Amino acid sequence: MKLNQISIDTEYQGISDTTWQALFEKAISSGVLTKRHELFSGNEINVSEKRPALHTALRNISKSPVLVNGINIMPQIEAIWHSIERIDNQLRGVTDIIHIGIGGSDFGPKLVCDALLQKPHKENRNIRIHFLSNLDSAQLEPILKTVEAKSTRIIIVSKAFTTLETIQNATTVLDWLSNQGVLAQEIKNNIFAVTANPQQAITFGVSPENILPFWDWVGGRFSVWSAVGLSIALKFGFKVFQEFLAGAYAMDHHFKTAEPINNQPLKLALTTYHNQIRFGSKSQAIIPYAHRLQLFTEWLQQLEMESNGKTATLDNHSTTISAPVIFGTPGTNAQHSFFQMLHQGPEIIPVDFIAIREPMSDLPQAKIHHRMLIANCLAQSQALALGKPSNSSDNNLNEKYPGMRPSNLIWLPRLDAFNLGSLMALYEHRTFCLGVLYGLNSFDQPGVELGKVLAKPIDEALSNPSKLSLLNSFDDITKKRIEWFNSKT
Ligand code: F6P
Repeated sequence: MKLNQISIDTEYQGISDTTWQALFEKAISSGVLTKRHELFSGNEINVSEKRPALHTALRNISKSPVLVNGINIMPQIEAIWHSIERIDNQLRGVTDIIHIGIGGSDFGPKLVCDALLQKPHKENRNIRIHFLSNLDSAQLEPILKTVEAKSTRIIIVSKAFTTLETIQNATTVLDWLSNQGVLAQEIKNNIFAVTANPQQAITFGVSPENILPFWDWVGGRFSVWSAVGLSIALKFGFKVFQEFLAGAYAMDHHFKTAEPINNQPLKLALTTYHNQIRFGSKSQAIIPYAHRLQLFTEWLQQLEMESNGKTATLDNHSTTISAPVIFGTPGTNAQHSFFQMLHQGPEIIPVDFIAIREPMSDLPQAKIHHRMLIANCLAQSQALALGKPSNSSDNNLNEKYPGMRPSNLIWLPRLDAFNLGSLMALYEHRTFCLGVLYGLNSFDQPGVELGKVLAKPIDEALSNPSKLSLLNSFDDITKKRIEWFNSKT
Protein backbone atom coordinates (compact mmCIF):
# COMPACT_ATOMS: atom_id res chain seq x y z
CA MET A 1 0.00 0.00 0.00
CA LYS A 2 1.26 3.49 -0.91
CA LEU A 3 1.53 5.59 2.25
CA ASN A 4 0.60 9.21 2.93
CA GLN A 5 3.35 11.49 1.59
CA ILE A 6 2.21 14.76 3.14
CA SER A 7 4.18 16.25 5.99
CA ILE A 8 2.99 18.99 8.30
CA ASP A 9 5.08 21.42 10.27
CA THR A 10 3.43 23.04 13.29
CA GLU A 11 6.66 24.64 14.64
CA TYR A 12 5.49 28.21 14.15
CA GLN A 13 2.46 27.61 16.35
CA GLY A 14 4.67 28.25 19.35
CA ILE A 15 2.97 25.46 21.30
CA SER A 16 5.06 23.98 24.13
CA ASP A 17 5.29 20.24 24.78
CA THR A 18 3.21 20.67 27.92
CA THR A 19 0.47 22.48 26.01
CA TRP A 20 0.52 19.84 23.26
CA GLN A 21 0.09 17.22 25.96
CA ALA A 22 -2.90 19.11 27.39
CA LEU A 23 -4.38 19.47 23.90
CA PHE A 24 -4.08 15.74 23.20
CA GLU A 25 -5.73 15.03 26.55
CA LYS A 26 -8.55 17.43 25.67
CA ALA A 27 -9.02 15.64 22.32
CA ILE A 28 -9.12 12.24 23.97
CA SER A 29 -11.51 13.37 26.71
CA SER A 30 -13.76 14.87 24.00
CA GLY A 31 -13.96 11.40 22.46
CA VAL A 32 -11.85 11.83 19.31
CA LEU A 33 -10.56 8.26 19.41
CA THR A 34 -13.94 6.64 20.04
CA LYS A 35 -15.66 8.82 17.46
CA ARG A 36 -12.94 8.05 14.93
CA HIS A 37 -13.64 4.35 15.45
CA GLU A 38 -17.36 5.00 15.03
CA LEU A 39 -16.75 7.02 11.85
CA PHE A 40 -14.87 4.20 10.13
CA SER A 41 -17.14 1.46 11.49
CA GLY A 42 -20.35 2.84 10.04
CA ASN A 43 -21.98 3.79 13.36
CA GLU A 44 -24.77 6.36 13.14
CA ILE A 45 -22.58 9.32 13.98
CA ASN A 46 -24.89 11.68 12.06
CA VAL A 47 -27.32 11.42 14.94
CA SER A 48 -29.88 14.02 13.81
CA GLU A 49 -30.35 12.28 10.45
CA LYS A 50 -29.79 8.83 11.99
CA ARG A 51 -27.11 7.79 9.48
CA PRO A 52 -23.47 6.82 9.31
CA ALA A 53 -21.03 9.10 7.49
CA LEU A 54 -19.13 6.63 5.36
CA HIS A 55 -17.20 8.67 2.82
CA THR A 56 -14.12 6.67 3.89
CA ALA A 57 -15.73 3.51 2.47
CA LEU A 58 -15.88 5.18 -0.96
CA ARG A 59 -12.07 5.18 -1.10
CA ASN A 60 -11.53 1.90 0.69
CA ILE A 61 -9.38 0.49 -2.08
CA SER A 62 -8.48 -2.52 0.11
CA LYS A 63 -12.14 -3.55 -0.36
CA SER A 64 -12.21 -4.88 3.20
CA PRO A 65 -15.85 -5.24 4.32
CA VAL A 66 -17.67 -2.19 5.71
CA LEU A 67 -21.02 -3.02 7.27
CA VAL A 68 -24.16 -0.87 7.30
CA ASN A 69 -27.03 -2.59 9.15
CA GLY A 70 -25.08 -5.83 8.88
CA ILE A 71 -24.69 -5.60 5.08
CA ASN A 72 -21.30 -5.19 3.42
CA ILE A 73 -21.50 -2.05 1.28
CA MET A 74 -18.21 -2.58 -0.57
CA PRO A 75 -19.78 -4.57 -3.48
CA GLN A 76 -22.11 -1.60 -4.23
CA ILE A 77 -19.14 0.76 -4.21
CA GLU A 78 -17.11 -1.53 -6.49
CA ALA A 79 -20.07 -1.70 -8.87
CA ILE A 80 -19.96 2.10 -9.15
CA TRP A 81 -16.22 2.01 -9.86
CA HIS A 82 -16.98 -0.41 -12.72
CA SER A 83 -19.76 1.89 -14.02
CA ILE A 84 -17.43 4.91 -13.98
CA GLU A 85 -14.76 2.92 -15.82
CA ARG A 86 -17.31 1.66 -18.37
CA ILE A 87 -18.63 5.16 -19.10
CA ASP A 88 -15.05 6.41 -19.35
CA ASN A 89 -14.24 3.68 -21.92
CA GLN A 90 -17.45 4.13 -23.89
CA LEU A 91 -17.44 7.88 -24.33
CA ARG A 92 -16.61 8.56 -27.97
CA GLY A 93 -16.92 11.68 -30.07
CA VAL A 94 -17.73 13.84 -27.05
CA THR A 95 -16.29 17.35 -27.02
CA ASP A 96 -17.96 18.82 -23.93
CA ILE A 97 -19.52 17.80 -20.66
CA ILE A 98 -21.80 20.06 -18.67
CA HIS A 99 -21.57 18.99 -15.03
CA ILE A 100 -24.66 20.44 -13.30
CA GLY A 101 -24.62 20.47 -9.49
CA ILE A 102 -24.14 22.82 -6.56
CA GLY A 103 -22.42 22.79 -3.16
CA GLY A 104 -20.88 19.38 -2.50
CA SER A 105 -22.04 18.27 -5.94
CA ASP A 106 -19.83 20.93 -7.51
CA PHE A 107 -16.92 22.17 -5.36
CA GLY A 108 -15.03 18.86 -5.04
CA PRO A 109 -15.04 17.68 -8.68
CA LYS A 110 -14.45 21.25 -9.91
CA LEU A 111 -11.43 21.63 -7.60
CA VAL A 112 -9.92 18.33 -8.72
CA CYS A 113 -10.51 18.96 -12.44
CA ASP A 114 -8.83 22.35 -12.10
CA ALA A 115 -6.00 21.30 -9.78
CA LEU A 116 -4.79 18.45 -12.01
CA LEU A 117 -4.92 20.39 -15.28
CA GLN A 118 -1.16 20.78 -15.56
CA LYS A 119 1.70 18.45 -14.62
CA PRO A 120 2.05 15.57 -14.03
CA HIS A 121 -1.26 14.28 -15.44
CA LYS A 122 -2.16 14.33 -19.07
CA GLU A 123 -5.80 14.72 -19.90
CA ASN A 124 -6.87 11.41 -21.38
CA ARG A 125 -8.85 13.17 -24.08
CA ASN A 126 -9.66 16.71 -25.01
CA ILE A 127 -13.02 16.84 -23.32
CA ARG A 128 -13.94 20.23 -21.88
CA ILE A 129 -15.82 20.03 -18.58
CA HIS A 130 -18.10 22.97 -17.78
CA PHE A 131 -19.28 23.25 -14.20
CA LEU A 132 -22.71 24.80 -13.86
CA SER A 133 -24.01 25.54 -10.39
CA ASN A 134 -25.46 29.02 -10.03
CA LEU A 135 -29.11 29.90 -10.50
CA ASP A 136 -27.87 33.02 -12.25
CA SER A 137 -28.15 32.28 -15.98
CA ALA A 138 -25.07 34.44 -16.52
CA GLN A 139 -23.03 31.33 -15.68
CA LEU A 140 -24.91 29.20 -18.20
CA GLU A 141 -25.03 31.57 -21.17
CA PRO A 142 -21.31 31.51 -22.03
CA ILE A 143 -21.28 27.72 -21.67
CA LEU A 144 -24.09 27.34 -24.18
CA LYS A 145 -22.26 29.71 -26.53
CA THR A 146 -19.19 27.44 -26.42
CA VAL A 147 -20.58 23.95 -26.72
CA GLU A 148 -21.90 22.00 -29.69
CA ALA A 149 -25.26 20.43 -28.74
CA LYS A 150 -24.78 17.06 -30.45
CA SER A 151 -21.36 16.31 -29.02
CA THR A 152 -22.17 17.47 -25.48
CA ARG A 153 -23.09 15.18 -22.60
CA ILE A 154 -24.89 16.33 -19.47
CA ILE A 155 -24.19 15.01 -15.98
CA ILE A 156 -26.78 16.08 -13.41
CA VAL A 157 -25.30 15.64 -9.95
CA SER A 158 -27.56 16.00 -6.95
CA LYS A 159 -27.85 13.87 -3.86
CA ALA A 160 -31.48 14.91 -3.33
CA PHE A 161 -32.35 15.55 -7.00
CA THR A 162 -34.76 18.24 -5.80
CA THR A 163 -32.22 21.06 -5.41
CA LEU A 164 -33.70 24.18 -6.97
CA GLU A 165 -30.59 25.44 -8.77
CA THR A 166 -29.67 22.05 -10.22
CA ILE A 167 -33.15 21.17 -11.43
CA GLN A 168 -33.69 24.61 -12.98
CA ASN A 169 -30.29 24.55 -14.70
CA ALA A 170 -30.87 21.00 -15.95
CA THR A 171 -34.32 21.96 -17.28
CA THR A 172 -32.93 24.96 -19.16
CA VAL A 173 -30.07 22.93 -20.63
CA LEU A 174 -32.45 20.20 -21.83
CA ASP A 175 -34.74 22.85 -23.39
CA TRP A 176 -31.71 24.27 -25.15
CA LEU A 177 -30.68 20.84 -26.51
CA SER A 178 -34.14 20.33 -27.86
CA ASN A 179 -34.19 23.83 -29.41
CA GLN A 180 -30.88 22.97 -31.07
CA GLY A 181 -32.60 20.10 -32.86
CA VAL A 182 -31.35 17.21 -30.73
CA LEU A 183 -34.04 14.51 -30.81
CA ALA A 184 -35.78 13.48 -27.59
CA GLN A 185 -34.25 9.98 -27.64
CA GLU A 186 -30.75 11.35 -28.23
CA ILE A 187 -31.19 13.74 -25.32
CA LYS A 188 -32.24 10.83 -23.13
CA ASN A 189 -29.12 8.89 -24.16
CA ASN A 190 -26.87 11.87 -23.52
CA ILE A 191 -27.87 12.75 -19.96
CA PHE A 192 -26.50 11.03 -16.89
CA ALA A 193 -27.54 11.45 -13.29
CA VAL A 194 -25.54 10.91 -10.12
CA THR A 195 -27.89 10.82 -7.16
CA ALA A 196 -29.06 9.19 -3.96
CA ASN A 197 -32.64 9.60 -5.24
CA PRO A 198 -32.77 7.57 -8.50
CA GLN A 199 -36.58 7.56 -8.60
CA GLN A 200 -36.63 11.35 -8.77
CA ALA A 201 -34.04 11.27 -11.58
CA ILE A 202 -36.21 8.84 -13.55
CA THR A 203 -39.24 11.11 -13.03
CA PHE A 204 -37.11 13.97 -14.37
CA GLY A 205 -36.47 11.96 -17.53
CA VAL A 206 -33.10 10.26 -17.05
CA SER A 207 -32.86 6.65 -18.32
CA PRO A 208 -32.38 4.18 -15.45
CA GLU A 209 -29.24 2.78 -17.15
CA ASN A 210 -27.67 6.28 -17.11
CA ILE A 211 -28.10 6.74 -13.35
CA LEU A 212 -25.14 6.25 -11.03
CA PRO A 213 -26.43 5.97 -7.49
CA PHE A 214 -24.87 6.96 -4.23
CA TRP A 215 -26.28 6.61 -0.78
CA ASP A 216 -27.72 8.62 2.11
CA TRP A 217 -24.66 7.73 4.20
CA VAL A 218 -22.52 9.93 1.92
CA GLY A 219 -22.71 13.57 3.03
CA GLY A 220 -22.92 16.01 0.08
CA ARG A 221 -19.72 17.84 1.04
CA PHE A 222 -17.90 14.49 1.40
CA SER A 223 -19.18 13.07 -1.90
CA VAL A 224 -16.40 13.76 -4.42
CA TRP A 225 -15.12 10.20 -3.82
CA SER A 226 -18.40 8.71 -5.09
CA ALA A 227 -19.77 8.87 -8.65
CA VAL A 228 -20.05 12.62 -7.99
CA GLY A 229 -16.41 12.51 -9.17
CA LEU A 230 -17.40 11.04 -12.58
CA SER A 231 -16.25 14.21 -14.35
CA ILE A 232 -12.75 13.73 -12.90
CA ALA A 233 -12.57 10.25 -14.42
CA LEU A 234 -13.89 11.51 -17.76
CA LYS A 235 -11.38 14.34 -17.84
CA PHE A 236 -8.24 12.46 -16.77
CA GLY A 237 -9.13 8.78 -17.09
CA PHE A 238 -10.33 6.24 -14.55
CA LYS A 239 -6.76 5.42 -13.42
CA VAL A 240 -6.21 8.99 -12.25
CA PHE A 241 -9.51 8.87 -10.36
CA GLN A 242 -8.31 5.64 -8.70
CA GLU A 243 -5.04 7.36 -7.73
CA PHE A 244 -7.09 10.17 -6.18
CA LEU A 245 -9.03 7.61 -4.12
CA ALA A 246 -5.76 5.89 -3.18
CA GLY A 247 -4.35 9.16 -1.83
CA ALA A 248 -7.40 9.64 0.38
CA TYR A 249 -7.19 6.02 1.49
CA ALA A 250 -3.56 6.58 2.51
CA MET A 251 -4.67 9.55 4.64
CA ASP A 252 -7.51 7.48 6.13
CA HIS A 253 -4.99 4.82 7.08
CA HIS A 254 -2.74 7.45 8.65
CA PHE A 255 -5.63 9.08 10.55
CA LYS A 256 -6.87 5.71 11.80
CA THR A 257 -3.53 4.34 12.93
CA ALA A 258 -1.20 7.22 13.87
CA GLU A 259 -0.76 8.06 17.53
CA PRO A 260 -2.19 11.45 18.51
CA ILE A 261 1.28 12.97 18.70
CA ASN A 262 1.91 12.21 15.00
CA ASN A 263 -1.66 12.37 13.77
CA GLN A 264 -1.84 15.05 11.08
CA PRO A 265 -5.61 15.74 10.94
CA LEU A 266 -5.79 15.80 14.73
CA LYS A 267 -2.79 18.11 15.06
CA LEU A 268 -4.19 20.54 12.48
CA ALA A 269 -7.53 20.54 14.30
CA LEU A 270 -5.87 21.10 17.65
CA THR A 271 -3.86 24.08 16.38
CA THR A 272 -7.08 25.72 15.13
CA TYR A 273 -8.94 24.92 18.36
CA HIS A 274 -6.06 26.14 20.52
CA ASN A 275 -5.87 29.44 18.61
CA GLN A 276 -9.60 29.94 19.02
CA ILE A 277 -9.21 29.49 22.78
CA ARG A 278 -5.97 31.40 23.36
CA PHE A 279 -6.45 34.30 20.91
CA GLY A 280 -10.22 34.23 20.40
CA SER A 281 -9.50 33.83 16.66
CA LYS A 282 -12.70 33.83 14.65
CA SER A 283 -11.23 33.18 11.23
CA GLN A 284 -8.50 31.20 9.54
CA ALA A 285 -6.63 31.87 6.31
CA ILE A 286 -5.75 28.98 4.02
CA ILE A 287 -3.01 30.00 1.60
CA PRO A 288 -1.85 27.48 -0.99
CA TYR A 289 1.42 28.54 -2.60
CA ALA A 290 0.19 26.66 -5.66
CA HIS A 291 -1.89 28.46 -8.21
CA ARG A 292 -3.52 25.22 -9.25
CA LEU A 293 -5.07 24.99 -5.79
CA GLN A 294 -6.98 28.21 -6.40
CA LEU A 295 -10.31 26.45 -5.77
CA PHE A 296 -9.14 24.69 -2.61
CA THR A 297 -10.42 27.35 -0.19
CA GLU A 298 -13.84 27.46 -1.82
CA TRP A 299 -14.14 23.69 -1.34
CA LEU A 300 -12.89 23.96 2.24
CA GLN A 301 -15.32 26.76 3.08
CA GLN A 302 -18.27 24.45 2.56
CA LEU A 303 -16.54 21.52 4.22
CA GLU A 304 -15.65 23.41 7.38
CA MET A 305 -18.41 25.99 7.72
CA GLU A 306 -21.37 23.84 6.63
CA SER A 307 -20.09 21.03 8.88
CA ASN A 308 -19.17 23.00 11.98
CA GLY A 309 -20.79 26.44 11.66
CA LYS A 310 -23.35 25.59 14.30
CA THR A 311 -24.54 26.59 17.73
CA ALA A 312 -26.19 23.42 18.99
CA THR A 313 -24.01 20.78 20.58
CA LEU A 314 -24.89 17.09 20.56
CA ASP A 315 -26.47 17.45 24.00
CA ASN A 316 -28.47 20.51 22.85
CA HIS A 317 -26.42 23.18 24.56
CA SER A 318 -25.04 26.29 22.87
CA THR A 319 -21.39 26.21 21.93
CA THR A 320 -19.17 29.17 22.59
CA ILE A 321 -16.87 28.33 19.67
CA SER A 322 -17.44 26.58 16.38
CA ALA A 323 -16.09 26.79 12.81
CA PRO A 324 -13.75 29.67 12.06
CA VAL A 325 -14.51 31.78 8.99
CA ILE A 326 -12.35 30.16 6.31
CA PHE A 327 -10.92 32.38 3.61
CA GLY A 328 -7.92 32.39 1.32
CA THR A 329 -6.33 33.05 -2.04
CA PRO A 330 -3.22 31.45 -3.54
CA GLY A 331 0.13 32.95 -2.63
CA THR A 332 1.71 35.15 -3.77
CA ASN A 333 -1.50 36.95 -4.90
CA ALA A 334 -2.77 36.93 -1.31
CA GLN A 335 0.33 38.84 -0.16
CA HIS A 336 -0.83 41.81 -2.22
CA SER A 337 -4.33 41.68 -0.82
CA PHE A 338 -5.14 40.88 2.84
CA PHE A 339 -1.68 40.01 4.20
CA GLN A 340 -1.41 43.53 5.61
CA MET A 341 -4.17 42.55 8.03
CA LEU A 342 -2.58 39.18 8.83
CA HIS A 343 0.67 40.92 9.82
CA GLN A 344 -0.60 44.03 11.61
CA GLY A 345 -4.36 43.74 12.13
CA PRO A 346 -5.76 43.63 15.66
CA GLU A 347 -7.15 40.09 15.33
CA ILE A 348 -4.79 37.16 15.29
CA ILE A 349 -5.72 35.13 12.23
CA PRO A 350 -3.98 31.76 12.09
CA VAL A 351 -2.77 30.61 8.68
CA ASP A 352 -2.34 27.23 7.03
CA PHE A 353 0.29 27.54 4.30
CA ILE A 354 0.24 24.75 1.72
CA ALA A 355 3.35 24.30 -0.41
CA ILE A 356 4.48 21.82 -3.06
CA ARG A 357 8.08 20.71 -3.54
CA GLU A 358 7.98 20.31 -7.34
CA PRO A 359 7.17 23.14 -9.76
CA MET A 360 3.77 22.89 -11.35
CA SER A 361 4.57 24.07 -14.86
CA ASP A 362 6.89 22.90 -17.64
CA LEU A 363 8.16 26.32 -18.65
CA PRO A 364 11.97 26.60 -18.88
CA GLN A 365 11.79 29.19 -16.09
CA ALA A 366 9.59 27.01 -13.84
CA LYS A 367 12.38 26.23 -11.37
CA ILE A 368 13.24 29.89 -10.84
CA HIS A 369 9.60 30.83 -10.34
CA HIS A 370 9.10 27.94 -7.97
CA ARG A 371 12.14 28.74 -5.86
CA MET A 372 10.94 32.33 -5.48
CA LEU A 373 7.42 31.16 -4.71
CA ILE A 374 8.63 28.91 -1.90
CA ALA A 375 10.95 31.62 -0.58
CA ASN A 376 7.94 33.90 -0.25
CA CYS A 377 5.89 31.23 1.47
CA LEU A 378 8.63 30.59 4.03
CA ALA A 379 9.25 34.31 4.52
CA GLN A 380 5.61 35.07 5.21
CA SER A 381 5.31 32.40 7.90
CA GLN A 382 8.61 33.60 9.39
CA ALA A 383 7.44 37.24 9.45
CA LEU A 384 4.14 36.27 11.05
CA ALA A 385 5.84 34.22 13.73
CA LEU A 386 8.91 36.29 14.56
CA GLY A 387 7.75 39.79 13.70
CA LYS A 388 10.06 42.81 13.86
CA PRO A 389 10.35 45.62 16.40
CA SER A 390 9.77 49.22 15.41
CA ASN A 391 12.90 50.90 13.97
CA SER A 392 12.22 54.26 15.53
CA SER A 393 12.97 55.31 19.09
CA ASP A 394 9.34 56.36 19.66
CA ASN A 395 8.12 52.78 19.05
CA ASN A 396 6.13 53.80 15.96
CA LEU A 397 3.47 51.06 15.80
CA ASN A 398 3.16 51.48 12.07
CA GLU A 399 6.66 50.04 11.67
CA LYS A 400 6.20 47.23 14.12
CA TYR A 401 5.39 43.63 13.20
CA PRO A 402 4.10 42.10 16.42
CA GLY A 403 4.95 38.49 15.51
CA MET A 404 3.66 35.52 17.54
CA ARG A 405 1.11 34.96 14.77
CA PRO A 406 0.68 31.21 14.38
CA SER A 407 0.79 29.21 11.17
CA ASN A 408 1.13 25.64 9.92
CA LEU A 409 3.04 24.55 6.85
CA ILE A 410 1.62 21.62 4.91
CA TRP A 411 4.11 20.15 2.44
CA LEU A 412 3.16 18.04 -0.56
CA PRO A 413 5.94 16.39 -2.59
CA ARG A 414 4.01 17.11 -5.81
CA LEU A 415 0.53 18.12 -6.88
CA ASP A 416 -0.75 14.88 -8.37
CA ALA A 417 -4.00 12.97 -7.95
CA PHE A 418 -2.61 10.88 -5.10
CA ASN A 419 -1.40 13.81 -3.01
CA LEU A 420 -4.48 15.90 -3.78
CA GLY A 421 -6.63 13.01 -2.51
CA SER A 422 -4.54 12.90 0.67
CA LEU A 423 -4.76 16.67 1.14
CA MET A 424 -8.54 16.75 0.81
CA ALA A 425 -8.95 13.78 3.16
CA LEU A 426 -6.56 15.49 5.61
CA TYR A 427 -8.90 18.47 5.81
CA GLU A 428 -12.01 16.27 5.96
CA HIS A 429 -10.60 14.56 9.03
CA ARG A 430 -9.47 17.89 10.50
CA THR A 431 -13.09 19.10 10.18
CA PHE A 432 -14.29 15.89 11.83
CA CYS A 433 -11.82 16.30 14.75
CA LEU A 434 -12.86 19.94 15.19
CA GLY A 435 -16.51 18.87 15.29
CA VAL A 436 -15.67 16.43 18.09
CA LEU A 437 -13.75 19.15 19.98
CA TYR A 438 -16.72 21.52 19.63
CA GLY A 439 -19.13 18.71 20.63
CA LEU A 440 -21.13 19.05 17.38
CA ASN A 441 -22.63 16.78 14.76
CA SER A 442 -20.53 17.75 11.71
CA PHE A 443 -22.69 15.83 9.26
CA ASP A 444 -25.98 17.71 9.08
CA GLN A 445 -26.79 21.26 7.86
CA PRO A 446 -30.18 22.29 9.28
CA GLY A 447 -29.31 25.98 8.94
CA VAL A 448 -29.63 25.97 5.15
CA GLU A 449 -33.34 25.08 5.15
CA LEU A 450 -35.20 28.23 6.27
CA GLY A 451 -34.04 30.43 3.39
CA LYS A 452 -35.04 27.78 0.85
CA VAL A 453 -38.56 27.62 2.33
CA LEU A 454 -38.95 31.40 2.42
CA ALA A 455 -37.86 31.76 -1.22
CA LYS A 456 -40.93 29.88 -2.48
CA PRO A 457 -43.71 32.38 -1.54
CA ILE A 458 -41.41 35.27 -2.50
CA ASP A 459 -40.89 33.72 -5.93
CA GLU A 460 -44.65 33.32 -6.25
CA ALA A 461 -45.18 37.01 -5.40
CA LEU A 462 -42.45 38.04 -7.84
CA SER A 463 -44.01 36.05 -10.63
CA ASN A 464 -47.56 37.34 -9.97
CA PRO A 465 -47.10 41.11 -9.61
CA SER A 466 -50.78 41.78 -10.12
CA LYS A 467 -51.87 39.47 -7.27
CA LEU A 468 -51.50 42.03 -4.52
CA SER A 469 -53.04 39.68 -1.96
CA LEU A 470 -49.84 37.61 -2.08
CA LEU A 471 -47.92 40.54 -0.61
CA ASN A 472 -49.84 40.61 2.63
CA SER A 473 -48.14 37.59 4.12
CA PHE A 474 -44.71 39.28 4.17
CA ASP A 475 -43.03 41.56 6.69
CA ASP A 476 -42.96 45.23 5.66
CA ILE A 477 -39.34 45.24 4.55
CA THR A 478 -39.63 42.19 2.30
CA LYS A 479 -42.91 43.53 0.96
CA LYS A 480 -41.24 46.82 -0.07
CA ARG A 481 -38.42 44.94 -1.74
CA ILE A 482 -40.82 42.78 -3.75
CA GLU A 483 -42.74 45.90 -4.80
CA TRP A 484 -39.50 47.58 -5.90
CA PHE A 485 -38.47 44.60 -8.00
CA ASN A 486 -41.90 44.19 -9.56
CA SER A 487 -42.14 47.89 -10.38
CA LYS A 488 -38.97 47.50 -12.52
CA THR A 489 -40.27 44.58 -14.59
O1 F6P B 1 -26.34 23.67 0.86
C1 F6P B 1 -27.15 22.62 1.22
C2 F6P B 1 -26.82 21.36 0.45
O2 F6P B 1 -27.69 20.37 0.84
C3 F6P B 1 -25.37 20.91 0.57
O3 F6P B 1 -25.14 20.22 1.74
C4 F6P B 1 -25.21 20.10 -0.66
O4 F6P B 1 -23.86 19.88 -0.96
C5 F6P B 1 -25.90 21.00 -1.67
O5 F6P B 1 -26.99 21.54 -0.95
C6 F6P B 1 -26.39 20.31 -2.91
O6 F6P B 1 -27.28 19.28 -2.61
P1 F6P B 1 -27.66 18.16 -3.65
O7 F6P B 1 -26.42 17.39 -3.98
O8 F6P B 1 -28.67 17.29 -2.93
O9 F6P B 1 -28.24 18.81 -4.85
